[in-house]
Amino acid sequence: MGRLVIVSNRIPLGSNPSGGLVVALEDAMARRGGLWVGVQPEGEPIDGATDAGEGVITLDGAPFDRAAVCMPDRLYDDYYLGYANSVLWPLCHGRTELIDQQPRYRKAYEEVNRRLARSLAKMVEPDDLIWVHDYHHLPLAAALRAEGLQNAIGFFLHIPFPTASNVFALTGARDLVDWLSDYDLVGLQTRRDVASAMDVFRQFPESQFLMDGSIRFGSRMVEIKSFPIGIEVAGFREMAQRSEARLAPRSRKWIIGAERLDYSKGLPHRLRAFGKLLEQEADLRGAVSLLQIASPTREDVTAYREIREELEQLSGAVNGRYSDINYTPIQYLNRGIPRDQLAGLFAQADVGLVTPLADGMNLVAKEYVAAQDPDDPGVLVLSSFAGAFEQLGETALIANPYDPAQMARVIAEALLMPREERIARHRPMLARVEEEDVAWWSSSFIEALEAKRLGGDFLDLLGALPEGRAASASA
Ligand code: G6P
Repeated sequence: MGRLVIVSNRIPLGSNPSGGLVVALEDAMARRGGLWVGVQPEGEPIDGATDAGEGVITLDGAPFDRAAVCMPDRLYDDYYLGYANSVLWPLCHGRTELIDQQPRYRKAYEEVNRRLARSLAKMVEPDDLIWVHDYHHLPLAAALRAEGLQNAIGFFLHIPFPTASNVFALTGARDLVDWLSDYDLVGLQTRRDVASAMDVFRQFPESQFLMDGSIRFGSRMVEIKSFPIGIEVAGFREMAQRSEARLAPRSRKWIIGAERLDYSKGLPHRLRAFGKLLEQEADLRGAVSLLQIASPTREDVTAYREIREELEQLSGAVNGRYSDINYTPIQYLNRGIPRDQLAGLFAQADVGLVTPLADGMNLVAKEYVAAQDPDDPGVLVLSSFAGAFEQLGETALIANPYDPAQMARVIAEALLMPREERIARHRPMLARVEEEDVAWWSSSFIEALEAKRLGGDFLDLLGALPEGRAASASA
């Protein structure tokens, strides 16, 4: 069995910001061993890294090998801040009006992936399974095939798949389909995403949908399936129990929200709904606070600076109106906090608010459920736009971020919910989060990818496809 080679924009550094991707994969890598490769801007050297030559640095100290391919700063910015986060991110999150397409972004995006492929081709063994993560690296399989690699290559998109009605906002939308076709397996978070992907492929007449669910596109074949990402439940619960972080005063009810300060998270909508709640329910003034943790992210992109200002104004307005000497309705932290503290705060909060406008999965929803005491759990308030809705939507309370009055009513219902009902709603959610955890997610994906590799070997043995694996694994 070959190694598992993970590719993602960031390699795990230990002190990384708490993005779901890193947390989820550390576990899979520790179990199987292997290599994790990312990219790094030259101007941001990594502490303790060793220069391995040819623009590659390596890092010791993890149960798997780590390497990063260095990119000139300007190129990196045009790829990361530019194409990845000013074109693909808004596209995938349904915010086409925020897309900023600059020819140099697109060039940098392809160039970074080409350089990454060139370096990877020197590191990868023929039996290795390659698992590429997220929207930063859509063209990587194509670039690796161009380097002659015949390995099985899988791709997992952590964010929503763009809808067919939005995809043509992208100049060169067809490339998206083309890039994906060079993978053997494409994993998406939800069934809804798979439906969007099928719909997008359907826009191009070359797409043929086969009986086994895979798609033939030109000479290549790709399987697209949902693999909802999970969390490491026991570890998170333990962290929650050990944590010394406290919500105070305890006499008050607490609502918690915690995410990156991203426009996809619906934070202004949430603050407006909370303001509405205090406006409508005078009894709750002084009796409930919202702790909103919003860690800064991608601040060089205009849309992120704007959302930060909007949030400061909104929280200021609600606090100005309803604060008292001993009462602040919204405690707004514009910074991340350590995961162990976060886990402790989740455990104590009476209500967890996860109300994005668009979100691949949203692991906070699962972490909130995992951190609760099953005998006296808090209530998860979820929007149907989070990927987690497909797994938890039956017993979470569902709030519509586009309707502040409805969201305010749902929050009030959560705050007043009797214990028996809280237990009855929490139990099936916890079972699902435990069953479909991060190990289940990664092993299902890896097994499916391994099957592709074995399928490819089998066809090669039969000599069924004279063009070799590059065609056969995907044909
Ligand atoms: C999302 C993406 C990840 C990304 C994370 C943090 O979860 O799906 O790929 O790592 O956000 O964003 P950043 O831009 O800081 O890496």
